Amino acid sequence: MDKMIHSETPTCLVTGCAGFVGSHLCEALLGMGCPVVGLDDFSSGRRENMAGFDRRPDFAFYERSILDPDLLDDLKARHPSLDKIFHLAAIVSAPYSVNHAEETFEVNERATVRLHQAARRLGCGVFVFAGSAAEYGDEVRQPLCEDYADEARRLSPYGEAKYQASKAVERSGYGASLRFFNIYGPRQDPKSPYSGVISRFIDATLADKPMTIHGDGRQTRDFIHVADAVRAYLLAAGLRGARSALRGIFNAGSQTSTSVEDLARLVARIVGVPYRAEYLPPRPGDILHSLADASKLAEATGFKPEIPLAEGIANVISHL
Ligand code: UD1
Repeated sequence: MDKMIHSETPTCLVTGCAGFVGSHLCEALLGMGCPVVGLDDFSSGRRENMAGFDRRPDFAFYERSILDPDLLDDLKARHPSLDKIFHLAAIVSAPYSVNHAEETFEVNERATVRLHQAARRLGCGVFVFAGSAAEYGDEVRQPLCEDYADEARRLSPYGEAKYQASKAVERSGYGASLRFFNIYGPRQDPKSPYSGVISRFIDATLADKPMTIHGDGRQTRDFIHVADAVRAYLLAAGLRGARSALRGIFNAGSQTSTSVEDLARLVARIVGVPYRAEYLPPRPGDILHSLADASKLAEATGFKPEIPLAEGIANVISHL
C-alpha cells in the first residue's frame, strides 16, 4: 500500500531518489523538515542508497518510471501538498547514450518536458532540473558561461537531450536547470568503467592497484562535492535562505580547475601511499578542459561551494 504523507508543509518530489545525488538531496530535504515523495525505477539507482531514510514516515517511495505520462497527475492526487519538483531521474551515462540515442532522448528530453509541463499545469511552485556540463560539448572557451552551450557541438545524445530539456525549461519561464559539472561524493559507485574518476581513483588506491589515467593526465575538470551540489539544489528551489526559486539556466560547479594527474597525486597523498598510475590512451570523445563560470548562480542565490577538493576526497574515504 502507498505510504500517505499527511502534511500541510509543501512536499517535495525527487525523481531519481535512489541515485547517488538524489539520495543525498532526499536526506537534506528530510533533514530540513520537508516531506519527500521519492521516485526511482532502479535503472541506475540502488535501494541501498535510500537505507538512511526509506522507512521514515515523511518519505514515500514509488518504484516507477518517469516515462509514465500520468505520473505527476497521479502523484499529485495522492499527495495534494506536492509543490517542489526536483527532477534528477535520467539515463546517466553519456557513453551508454551513444548506442542508445532514441531511449536517451525519450527519457532525458521528452519525459522531462512532459514532467515539466505537468508541474506547471498542476501549479507546482518549484521545478528544478538536473542539467549537465555535457551540454557544452566540445566548447573550448573556458570558464564556461551558460550562453556558450547555444553555440556548442554536443558529443553525445546525453549532452544533446540535456541541452534540449534545459532550453525547454528556460523558454517556458517556469523552473530552472542547474548545469552540474563533475559531482563526486559518498555513494558514487566506483565499479562501472563510466563511474566518476574520483571514486575510481579512490577504489584503485585502497585496493593497492595503480590508478588508470586516460591520456597524459593534463585534462582538467571542475569537481563539485555532492553536499555543495545539494546546497545548489536547495537554493535554486528557494530554500535555505534564497530569495525565491530560480528561473532559467545556471551553471553549478566549484570554479576550480584540477588536472586528472594532480587529482591522482592528491588521492595517493590523502590515502597515504606512494603515487602509482598506469597511463592508457585517451578515452574516445574525452573533452580536454571543463570549468564552470558559476557567477550567475552566485549572483542569484549567494551560492558558494564550501568543500575544497582535498577535504571532499577525505570525506568520501571516511564513508567507505
Ligand atoms: C562527466 C560526466 C558525464 C558528462 C561529462 C560532461 C561523471 C561521472 N561523468 O564526464 O556524464 O557527460 O562530464 O562534461 O561525472 N579518467 C581517468 N581514469 C579513470 C576515469 C576517468 O583518467 O579511471 C579521466 C577521463 O578520461 C576524463 C576525466 O578523468 O578525462 C574525468 O572523467 P569522468 O569522471 O568520467 O568525467 P567526465 O568524462 O568529465
